[in-house]
Order: sequence, then C-alpha cells, then structure tokens
Amino acid sequence: TAPAPMPDLDTLDIDQLREQVSGCTACGLCNGRRHAVFGDGALPARWMVVGEAPGEQEDRQGLPFVGRSGQLLDAMLASVGMTRRDDVFIANVIKCRPPGNRNPKPEEIAACSPYLMRQIALLKPERILVLGRFAAQTLLGTDAAVGSLRGRVHTLRTDEGREIPVVVSYHPAYLLRSPSEKARSWKDLRLAVAGA
Ligand code: URA
Repeated sequence: TAPAPMPDLDTLDIDQLREQVSGCTACGLCNGRRHAVFGDGALPARWMVVGEAPGEQEDRQGLPFVGRSGQLLDAMLASVGMTRRDDVFIANVIKCRPPGNRNPKPEEIAACSPYLMRQIALLKPERILVLGRFAAQTLLGTDAAVGSLRGRVHTLRTDEGREIPVVVSYHPAYLLRSPSEKARSWKDLRLAVAGA
C-alpha cells in the first residue's frame, strides 16, 4: 500500500503532531518499531534537548532517553539545576528506533526532521542543547564533528524568523564509552545556561 501523504505540519498543534508521529509511515523504520517516540518533558519548556534516535528501552516505553544514556542525561541536567519534568523537553531527530541501533540514514533523517522542526516552532525553547553528531548536523546544516562544534553558541534561525541559541555537546552514549570527555560536556551545559 502507498504510504499516507504527510499533512502540512505547520497546521498541526502539539497534540495533533504527536498523533501524526505515532502513526507515521514516512520511512521504513515504522516497520520495526514498537513505539514512535515523540518526546517528553516540560510543556512549555525553557530548553529543548535533541538526541539522535530511540534505543531499545525508548522503543519499548515510548519515551526518550529512559535507558543508561538517559540516566546520564538526567544527571547532567541536574548539575545545572534542570529537570525534564519542569524545565526541559527532550526529543530526538529520529522518532523510530533504527534496527540494532544503527546510525540513521540520510533519507530517514530527511523524512523525520520536519517533525523536529515543527516541535521547535511550537515549543519556542529559549535554548536548544544538541547531543551528538546526527542532531548537530541536522539542526546546524553542517557535517562538522561534535568536537569542533562544541564550546561556542550557535544560532538556529527558524522558518518563523526566531533565532534560538544552540549549544552542541557529546551524546551521552559516547560519554558512557569515553568518560574522560564528561568534563567537557559539563562545561557545555554551563555554556548553555550562560547563553548567548
Ligand atoms: N539515545 C538517543 O539519542 N535518544 C534516546 O532517546 C535514547 C538514547
């Protein structure tokens, strides 16, 4: 069967967008998922945190960053006095789990990133903390590595003409493998708090 056409996302409110994501068939990842993971956290939110894609736990529970990476993310946020309940909305570039947690493909990012852009337009966060290469490359339109993007404040210019400060840091899954980078990532959090 032909996939359902994507509606004009600009007309959808947050609940309609959530509904659209939960039934999305815009790419092949819909075939293997248990849940599409829309995102979760404070509404309205001062910050948005943008990760890569759901892993196994996230796919099971339908919530972002609920596995080991999520525990580390919560600790990082707590270090600057932020919680996902009160301050932060957490979402991913890709809403459905890639098989075996493989990297997302360019066509999957292209199919899914309009949802993230609409989330940003609706949530109007004061800051976006971007975790890892795929999220940074998607939001900043670059193929630079995280190491060269972190340490300064970037600007995301939305279609509505808003300018949102963006801070890039390492993905928590990377920090779990390379704990010596944690100090840099804590610095990035403080930069995000201090702002532009
Ligand atoms: N890693 C991500 O990038 N996102 C999640 O939601 C969980 C792990």
